Amino acid sequence: MIVKTLEVGPFGTNCYLVFIEENRHLYIVDPGDDGEYIVAEAKKFDYSKVELLLTHFHIDHINAAEFCAAALGCDFVRLRTPDHAYYLSSSNCLPPYFPEPLKNPPAPREYEENSDYRVLALPGHTPGGAGILFGNDLFCGDTLFLNSCGRTDLPGGDDREITRSLLDVLMALPDDVKAYCGHGPVTTIGAERRNNPYINGTYL
Ligand SMILES: [Fe+2]
Repeated sequence: MIVKTLEVGPFGTNCYLVFIEENRHLYIVDPGDDGEYIVAEAKKFDYSKVELLLTHFHIDHINAAEFCAAALGCDFVRLRTPDHAYYLSSSNCLPPYFPEPLKNPPAPREYEENSDYRVLALPGHTPGGAGILFGNDLFCGDTLFLNSCGRTDLPGGDDREITRSLLDVLMALPDDVKAYCGHGPVTTIGAERRNNPYINGTYL
């Protein structure tokens, strides 16, 4: 598997290209912005299928979804159902950085069982937050960051839920799972178990 990280947009959102050599499936995780850059990088892979996967609905993670879908021939995005209404909402924008919601957002579709990855429900940062686990590589959106975690004060956010997602779901994974975060550097479950104050009990 090849993982390529593209830092996009005004908030330095991580968009990830995940290419599986065996079946030549290409997944674009969080096409947050800079659609032309994402499409140009995606086209460098000799893929047999391309899909857009969203970890959550926030505009800085989806702003190029419409552009990428049109350019690459995708007619839907994967997104967990509790985030669908937020994703489609006319208030899903963030002036002045993202002044407008998507005009024709690709239809959101719930994740389905498949042989490439599995999906962990990670509510808290948003109700439909998803962790996408390809083998030992986890794409965790804004639920977990290096030594930190996502904010819970935006619409649909919930403190207790993100604590459960961090402690009960993510910390149930083995130490050697690599966590690719929605912003900032990559980390591992083991490093976060030891050092993350929201996880090891040192945050007061
Ligand atoms: Fe977010």
